[in-house]
Amino acid sequence: MNILLIGSGGREHALAWAMAESPLCERLYCAPGNAGIACEGETVVLDVADHAAVIAFCRTMGIGLVVVGNEAPLVAGLVDDLAAAGVRAFGPTAAAARLEGSKAFTKALCDETGIPTAAYARFEAVEPALAYLRAQGAPIVVKYDGLAAGKGVVVAQTLPEAENAVRAMLAGPQDVVVIEAFMEGEEASFFALCDGTTALPLASAQDHKRAFDGDQGPNTGGMGAYSPAPVLTPDLEARVMAEIVEPTLAAMAARGTPFVGVLYAGLMIGPDGAPRLVEYNVRLGDPEAQALMPRLLSDPVEAMLAACDGRLSEVTLAWREEAALVVTLATTGYPGAVEKGSEIRNLEAAAALPGVRIFHAGTKRDGDRILANGGRVLSVVGLGADIAEARARAYAAVDAIDWPEGFCRRDIGWRALAR
Ligand code: GLY
Repeated sequence: MNILLIGSGGREHALAWAMAESPLCERLYCAPGNAGIACEGETVVLDVADHAAVIAFCRTMGIGLVVVGNEAPLVAGLVDDLAAAGVRAFGPTAAAARLEGSKAFTKALCDETGIPTAAYARFEAVEPALAYLRAQGAPIVVKYDGLAAGKGVVVAQTLPEAENAVRAMLAGPQDVVVIEAFMEGEEASFFALCDGTTALPLASAQDHKRAFDGDQGPNTGGMGAYSPAPVLTPDLEARVMAEIVEPTLAAMAARGTPFVGVLYAGLMIGPDGAPRLVEYNVRLGDPEAQALMPRLLSDPVEAMLAACDGRLSEVTLAWREEAALVVTLATTGYPGAVEKGSEIRNLEAAAALPGVRIFHAGTKRDGDRILANGGRVLSVVGLGADIAEARARAYAAVDAIDWPEGFCRRDIGWRALAR
């Protein structure tokens, strides 16, 4: 079958690479893709916000499956419109994508179903929000209700920081914020493939959201990740399924908005060992996908088709025993403004090192040259017998890449190694 993948990041390169290997995949198209994705399939210029244009493309190219990698098209209802046009698409409908599209929606759902999460309040106006902040004190978490490309969460250590976040996030007439109690503990990423009623856990993973070593500096889209995540023991995974994922799936189905796709539960594992939901995303994590796809032995296309068709109870997923660790190479200045266009050299030699795979996140080709084309630029993956070997291999490849304009964290995986 012909497949259209929507997206342009490292997650989509990892998906494209994994799907291109599937015997079910005849032709793979990716809109818009990047220089790395272009080596796995055909990149196409398509305005993803123009749903009629996407449908027309699918009809012309005989697309049998659309895979939506990133959240914005899901929240915008691309899957709904494709389904209405008779095109099979992997990912949630707009109503189900509210689990990521609205923090307040998810918090209300947690309240209704008893899913463990931080206490919260929702505000549309600045003054009541400030009064609530002052009553609660810091540290405290301020979240923008809608999609904010990873920039909508402020973990404020002081009241002035929290107050500034509230004022900035409530600048427009439609804006809503959620203010949450600060949760202590260790964060982890839990992914479940869902068909509306059945949830199948994927391998565990953990990412590093802060820009600099020691988990310092501003939040980013993700500076690295690894899988498996030792914090997510089998017992804990069973609790996450029973206390968080399954009640969510049941509640969404009961509302008439069943969730199909990848449900990504951002978790906080408290000092008491209990898992609590930090937030939901409605797609694979980036860079977690770059650690998961090289470990997946099963056919991802077959699994996604089963999810679309409500047949996940027939599926089991097999994973490599090996660990994978991803280092994000970003342009200096990220997550702030960055200059595009610097040349990245020696990529092929780095990718040829043992146990290494390089996924492109923000690159473009200029003749024979690969140029940086954004903030997060490359996901350098090491595979090894354990996290330590995977990490050594990933950093050996990072060190072989010649790109003076880039930077990375040097401590990816520190929590796993400190155990
Ligand atoms: N790893 C964070 C995210 O994908 O949103």
